[in-house]
Amino acid sequence: MTIAKTNPESDKLAAGARRSLDEQGLNTGPSPSQLGSRFITPAELFFTRSHAAIPSLDAANWRLRVHGLVGRKLELSLDDLKHSFTAREVDATLVCAGLRRTELENVAPIPGELPWGLEPISTGTWRGIQLRDVLLSAGVEEDAGHVWFTSVDVVERHGKKFAFGGSIPLAKALGPEVLLAYELNGEPLSPDHGFPVRALVPGYIGARSVKWLGEIEVRAEPSANYFQTQAYRLLAKRDGDDGNVRNGTEMNETPLNAVILSPEAGGQVPAGAAELSGWALGREGAPVMVVECSGDNGDTWTPAEVYASGSPWAWQLWRATLTLAAGSHTLVVRCSDGRGLTQPPDVKDVWNVKGYGNNAWHRVAVEVRA
Ligand code: MTE
Repeated sequence: MTIAKTNPESDKLAAGARRSLDEQGLNTGPSPSQLGSRFITPAELFFTRSHAAIPSLDAANWRLRVHGLVGRKLELSLDDLKHSFTAREVDATLVCAGLRRTELENVAPIPGELPWGLEPISTGTWRGIQLRDVLLSAGVEEDAGHVWFTSVDVVERHGKKFAFGGSIPLAKALGPEVLLAYELNGEPLSPDHGFPVRALVPGYIGARSVKWLGEIEVRAEPSANYFQTQAYRLLAKRDGDDGNVRNGTEMNETPLNAVILSPEAGGQVPAGAAELSGWALGREGAPVMVVECSGDNGDTWTPAEVYASGSPWAWQLWRATLTLAAGSHTLVVRCSDGRGLTQPPDVKDVWNVKGYGNNAWHRVAVEVRA
């Protein structure tokens, strides 16, 4: 069996509204049943995560300023980007750090954060230019250590208004996979995905893929932006901690992860051979080598077939068949990358103050009918 990269027929069937987590429709995502039948997520289903209103930008007047520890400051228009640098394409999965937060909330409350389930993950074909080409053109100075991205949107936190931003280490910024992207799935980025240009940092949490990019600054230290210093940090609260995530560790790489897309939690399945399917995502571009499923909450395991799209930065898809008797079952999936990296078995092991990076074994309770 093979799985197609794109599948217009299943796209038509899967089309329909994304689930929205807020009234303005800034934070939306597909349901599990809309994913998993092809590698590339259609743009209209692709999840969105925006911390403030979507800025309305005019491509003709848009400029990208490149400054900081560079030999030569640059100010680039969209035409400069497209005509002075070589266009590149990368199939990459974008995943929000808050994916699977609702499972963590069952351990202990996580106030003030969006109740994301399986929605905030999608895979696209991104087109743009390599960030490294722009950095090399500007000339990076010796003390450079981090590349800051700053947007033009206006976020409000604790009474202060500022633009969304974040940074990545210079070594990552020079990787061939990191793009200044202006297209998703063959079309110009839509306003909600960062038109006209966004950073695309495959393998890192979505927060580093800054949309509506306005500035790139090369600095010795990581970004001082709120979303680098006070959010997107991991802190497992222990007795005596004040729970301030400033004291946590900066989150960059997305962890090894796998989920069951079908059957969905709370679903009903006929007794006998049950088909399970889902996605698996390696860490930092390393492929997932083994995906295993259990129909008895982890007592016994069955290997799944794993399919790859050909891009190390895109999720892999998997299929497994389990024989299930009538009754209540907890289905589980876990994966490993063949280099010793495995997933934590229990959500309690990964609970953290802001509810980021849940990559515990994914469990789905279903009813098997006789
Ligand atoms: N960039 C800006 N300027 N503002 C934002 O709110 N959200 C980030 C990132 N880039 C954000 C941003 C987060 S948390 C994620 S997960 C991704 O964008 C989501 O990208 P998407 O909306 O295209 O799926």
